[in-house]
Amino acid sequence: MRSLSGIQPSGRLHLGNYFGAIRQYLKFQDEGNECFYFIANYHALTTISDKKQMEEITTHVATAFLALGIDPEKSAFFLQSDVPQVTELAWILNCVCPVSMMEKATSYKDKISKGLAANMGLLDYPVLQAADILIYDSNIVPIGQDQKQHLEMTRDLAIKFNLAFGETLVVPEAHIVPEVAVVPGIDGQKMSKSYDNTIEIFQTPKATKKRCSQIVTDSTPLEEPKDPDKCTVFAMLKLLAEPAEVEEIEKNYRSGSYGYGHAKGRLAELVNELFAEARKKYAELEKNPGFVRDVLGEGGRKAREVAEETMIRVRNACGILTNR
Ligand code: ADP
Ligand code: TRP
Repeated sequence: MRSLSGIQPSGRLHLGNYFGAIRQYLKFQDEGNECFYFIANYHALTTISDKKQMEEITTHVATAFLALGIDPEKSAFFLQSDVPQVTELAWILNCVCPVSMMEKATSYKDKISKGLAANMGLLDYPVLQAADILIYDSNIVPIGQDQKQHLEMTRDLAIKFNLAFGETLVVPEAHIVPEVAVVPGIDGQKMSKSYDNTIEIFQTPKATKKRCSQIVTDSTPLEEPKDPDKCTVFAMLKLLAEPAEVEEIEKNYRSGSYGYGHAKGRLAELVNELFAEARKKYAELEKNPGFVRDVLGEGGRKAREVAEETMIRVRNACGILTNR
């Protein structure tokens, strides 16, 4: 089975990215699937127009993926921009894509309502994402809930293309894990780089502790019982603690004399434990940027090979002649 996914280099990676997406990437990789994981820098260009920021965050995400366990021996790990066939396929898919389908995309409407310029890249974002997925004949796409509509559009576009030009593209399935579909941020909304409510994976233990202490809770006094199901700290603890500990913390919430401060302190410890190893590896990789570049180079070569095979099929299906 072929698993594929991508993350935009639009900000530093956070717990939502890890639990909602990256942990699933690792699972598919370690179960022996054929995996393609990439950094969607052309997607990020729809919202970022600062060269330095783009370069820095691209390097951060590349280093972070390797530190978290993406294994270049098992997965092709690469930059979207190293596979020019993807933008070629996006153009072809544009030609079977109704404008109304893009105008209905919730992520597009959200971005416009937040005041982002309605450029063509932003409108066309889901078509480029569909090209990313379809060009590798992907079967499974591990993602968080927010990407569900993009996957539905990808399936639609594959079906439309196949109807117009004959069976050519594989129709993929989304893989969304319900318990981690939407990880909350420190303000209780969905954790996202764009809401400034994240807990970053790669920061010092002290900074993690400080960030956890900023999670918004209600003002129930320490001695009184609290409802764990209404608490963002508890929702995060459920992602990190063993089931027996979750049960114990839940009891503590309900019986009182257990404050949000206790829960926040424990959460910070668990985050710091979970990522201790990856943070060490990240620091080592930072000293060796040549290695990270070589991995991306090799991943790009693998990805281009598969992409070109698909494009030969696609060009042929629609009668696009080339003389290369
Ligand atoms: P952000 O919203 O911070 O910009 P991205 O859009 O780059 O994050 O998301 C990269 C991947 O991480 C996607 O598969 C997305 O669904 C997943 N993801 C991001 N935030 C969360 C979250 N809060 N909960 C679950 N998954 C998430
Ligand atoms: N839109 C995705 C996000 O914001 C990133 C992405 C680009 C992606 N291409 C993809 C995800 C292909 C999965 C498959 O998170």
